[in-house]
Amino acid sequence: MDQNSKIAVVGSGYVGLVAAVCFAEMGHTVICVDNDDRKVAALQGGDTLIHENHLPELLERYRNTKIRFMTDLGEATRECDAIFIAVGTPQSEAGDADLSYVEAVACEIARSITSYKVIVEKSTVPVYTNEWVRRAIERNGVDRTLFDVVSNPEFLREGTAVADFLHPDRIVVGSDSERASALLKDIYAPLTDGEYYKRPDAIEGHCSSTEPPLLLLTSTKSAEIIKHASNAFLALKISFINAVSNLCEAADANVEQVALGMGLDSRIGPKFLRPGIGYGGSCFPKDVAAFRSVAEQMGIDFNLLSEVEKINVQQKKRFLAKVRSALWTLRTKRIGVLGLAFKGETDDIRESPAIDLVEMLLAEGCSVTAFDPAAMKRAQEALPASDRLRYAGSAYEAAEDADALLILTDWPEFASLDLEQLNKIMRYPIIIDGRNLYDPNVAAQHGFTYLSIGRPASYPVKQASVSSTV
Ligand code: UDX
Repeated sequence: MDQNSKIAVVGSGYVGLVAAVCFAEMGHTVICVDNDDRKVAALQGGDTLIHENHLPELLERYRNTKIRFMTDLGEATRECDAIFIAVGTPQSEAGDADLSYVEAVACEIARSITSYKVIVEKSTVPVYTNEWVRRAIERNGVDRTLFDVVSNPEFLREGTAVADFLHPDRIVVGSDSERASALLKDIYAPLTDGEYYKRPDAIEGHCSSTEPPLLLLTSTKSAEIIKHASNAFLALKISFINAVSNLCEAADANVEQVALGMGLDSRIGPKFLRPGIGYGGSCFPKDVAAFRSVAEQMGIDFNLLSEVEKINVQQKKRFLAKVRSALWTLRTKRIGVLGLAFKGETDDIRESPAIDLVEMLLAEGCSVTAFDPAAMKRAQEALPASDRLRYAGSAYEAAEDADALLILTDWPEFASLDLEQLNKIMRYPIIIDGRNLYDPNVAAQHGFTYLSIGRPASYPVKQASVSSTV
């Protein structure tokens, strides 16, 4: 078994950069290519550009030894055996995936192929992309015997990306060529044979399994569909529990108890049943839309996905209605906002429901003071500070003099705030928690009116209840 393959990774976004440093951590020699020379210079200088656990330390460990950064895709293609394409596949106006970056990379790779290469789709792409990549390379004059195209989708989550990459639930390789499958098996051997996990300095994973991951070999088309179907199914699970949370609110039941009771059924499982303000991020919204579009193009009625999207949009509007129900009118109200990223432990604000809600509050005439432990810079670029939008230096500063405090992102530090101190500094002790981070009884004992998702509202225990329609 060749423990040291030469791998090129094209694209240095979340998936590309994490894959590149993790392949280096697994013992391979890696060239990470990006056409943005400022990005390449920053990475060469040790700046990871994104907030991600373990990334700085791994980059520091392998920079200029096992991993190099460059803009020259031709050189990387010539030097490497496998070329992983991890460039963006943004949502087009029509809702499907824009594959122009993938096509451009495929054509550029083709110009430098002189010996056998395996081209690997790492970006999330619709079914049939594999065939288009193959055609693009052939059209650029490369003999069919000199390359194979395989699909190896990535399932990492932002915030735990490095640990997820090194401790995957499964590794999916979609390949119609034995030669290409063998190379991919070699590349992942340090994980599948368990050798990596025996290292004393191995990065720890987030799941309880101690078994090495299974490498599942499928056809290329199946692998492409596995990625879209997995993300769409997880989004469906979230929309399902959000719809159930609305029902719980109407029936005065508790969604946490319902989710626990459902999740204990091993066929359902407890994960991705946390209700909230809707899913966001760079994957779920885009992938659900792209999968729906793929189905439409193939004449398949997959309206279920439109309902998933509809519930997700409604969930933000319902949250705004909850704020209104607690504060009566919104114009000129001063709102503290905790969390701007699309979820905790990331600085990513792409498709963040928190950002959408801040915009909705501003449109209603509120003044907002917002804080996020990591996403401040990105949030300020997207929504510049103004006379009605301020950015605070801490959660407590955001809460000062507020008519209500909204929790929009599940950062661990927002789950352990000093409620007594908060109560003292706020104008009215009202928390509207979009992530269910507190026990409603505890919040009430600290004098708060506390509204959350799918659970009965609670009111200050020693005071008369604040009137609310929730
Ligand atoms: C997701 C997939 O999990 C990952 O496998 C894929 O490779 C990329 O997309 P990511 O977008 O990083 O990863 O975040 P994830 O942790 O899955 O959360 C996505 C969104 O769903 C967030 O907005 C999160 O707050 C929300 N979510 C998640 C819920 O509202 N409830 C849950 O129970 C879980």
